[in-house]
Amino acid sequence: MGKVFASAPFIVGENEPSPTDAAIPAEEAVCPVIAHDWVNDAYKHLVVAASPKALAVKPGQFFNLLCPSPDEGELWLRRPQSVYRVDGARRRIEFLYKCVGRGTRGLATLKKGDMLNIVGPLGVGFHLDPSWRNIVVLGRGVGLATLAPISQLAASYGVGVTAILSARSRDLVMADDLFAKVGTVVPVLDIDRSSDVENVERILQGLIAAGCADAFFTCGSNRLMQLMKRLARQHGIPGQVAMEQVMACGLGPCYVCVRTFEVNGRKELRRICIEGPVFDLQEAVGW
Ligand SMILES: Cc1cc2nc3c(=O)[nH]c(=O)nc-3n(C[C@H](O)[C@H](O)[C@H](O)COP(=O)(O)OP(=O)(O)OC[C@H]3O[C@@H](n4cnc5c(N)ncnc54)[C@H](O)[C@@H]3O)c2cc1C
Ligand code: FES
Repeated sequence: MGKVFASAPFIVGENEPSPTDAAIPAEEAVCPVIAHDWVNDAYKHLVVAASPKALAVKPGQFFNLLCPSPDEGELWLRRPQSVYRVDGARRRIEFLYKCVGRGTRGLATLKKGDMLNIVGPLGVGFHLDPSWRNIVVLGRGVGLATLAPISQLAASYGVGVTAILSARSRDLVMADDLFAKVGTVVPVLDIDRSSDVENVERILQGLIAAGCADAFFTCGSNRLMQLMKRLARQHGIPGQVAMEQVMACGLGPCYVCVRTFEVNGRKELRRICIEGPVFDLQEAVGW
């Protein structure tokens, strides 16, 4: 039997892309799990086979994942995760996520060969201006996963990338091997206080003075975002921030994900899922 509903999910490995759906940018897809491994005590790396629409995800966009329940209760809402890496040659997308609650604990139970239902790609991703020759990305915790694809894209265009990766300790510096392949990595840690705002400010000021900061990108820390926003304003550097917020629909109608922004001196409420998750750094207010 063919598709019963127009909205039937795309089963990766079974369905062929339909020419009539080609103009629709996002879809529900069911993806076989290719690999799923612990990176350390808290983070897992998930690789799934992806549909052509999913492979077209842009840096900073996200998918809403239908996580299996980790217990006997129901898990009603999907959980948003940005894409960590796209492997176009092998038609796979990868997620790097932290286990924090029921959804991600349920996600962590998936094994190779299981199927994961995803909706996406969703939201507005990062923008890379062709005039930028050097960018700085500054992230902490799960924010590093979100910043990885824009760093890869920039490097593929010959843009210099400095990645300042903040974490509690060296073993929690996520994805430093990936960032090292595309640019210069500067780890900053709580354990030796190199992640203190004053020290990160010194590093950023040095990069600005050296002409290595045509644009700023940040995700994962309010205090680091506030620092980058202040320096960007002082030095006239364009900046973008990927914001996080608890979500429900991920598509725009429920307004669960609103945050306050400041646009031309006026406070505005915006939905992270559809007007973001990436926003102009100067318009972000923080949390
Ligand atoms: C656009 C976007 C991209 C994201 N990308 C990643 C990613 O690449 N890797 C990653 O590890 N996480 C990412 N997150 C965060 C991830 O969605 C949450 O960690 C996840 O939804 C938690 O679900 P849970 O059921 O395990 O935890 P819950 O039991 O729902 O919550 C556990 C804790 O996490 C907080 N939390 C729940 N949902 C979110 C959320 N959406 N944002 C921030 N905090 C939340 C809760 O307030 C609570 O403190 C992203 C979030 C957004 C909005
Ligand atoms: S999560 Fe429903 S509007 Fe954003």
